[in-house]
Amino acid sequence: MTAMADQSGRHLRLGVNIDHVATIRNARGASYPDPVRAALLAQEAGADGITAHLREDRRHITDKDIARLSAELEIPFNFEMAATQEMLEIALRHKPHAVCLVPERREERTTEGGLDAAGLHNHLAPMVDRLGEAGCRVSLFIEADPRQIDAALRLKVPVVELHTGKYCEVEGPEQAAELRRITDMAALAAKNGIEPHAGHGLTYENVAPIAAIPQVAELNIGHFLIGEAIFLGLRDSVAQMRKLMDEARGQA
Ligand code: PXP
Repeated sequence: MTAMADQSGRHLRLGVNIDHVATIRNARGASYPDPVRAALLAQEAGADGITAHLREDRRHITDKDIARLSAELEIPFNFEMAATQEMLEIALRHKPHAVCLVPERREERTTEGGLDAAGLHNHLAPMVDRLGEAGCRVSLFIEADPRQIDAALRLKVPVVELHTGKYCEVEGPEQAAELRRITDMAALAAKNGIEPHAGHGLTYENVAPIAAIPQVAELNIGHFLIGEAIFLGLRDSVAQMRKLMDEARGQA
């Protein structure tokens, strides 16, 4: 186990999302590359947790991957899922350390936009309760919006993950405005006792300002790290992200 416990509470956790190792595997219907092997290597390379998203269409991660990740990882496993009955049953079977509820549309290429926790309160409340009772740390993947933080508070979730997709897509003043929005919502969540995480679209180039937000406790990063692993190898790709996060946090 490589996660260093920083007594000051400033250690920023890195959750490595291994979905796109499975994307490459599934492109040929082969048994390789194995996402669980990637998860174990990321664990060795300094990841504090592993994230995988079992999508309704199983385009990358499969049910078997989830079973193996649940059994083989030493570091916490964060299971990303749509808020459906099918996924709830799978989560309750494996009882991962964390469950992140995400919106899901079949046609989308990736998770576009956050969960409407405000509009879906009645649908989400029993699900959040059942997952919490099973011992899972429930998180909602939301836009950095005060209405969504308020909804998360009403749902009594311990964690929110702030969507950084727009921040990663835009530049200049628009990016500065997005960063401000994420910074403010991380502070608002923390002030109300909710642990803020962040993720989506993060790269070596854009990670530092998000990593520097003091209340953010965890970043979940996948697509860029797996792509960079083609050039550097997964161990170095993860280690470099770890280094940039620590530098941004003043811990290098
Ligand atoms: N966090 C959540 C909730 C996600 O759905 C995803 C993408 O699956 C990520 C983080 C990671 O995003 P990326 O693959 O762009 O780094």
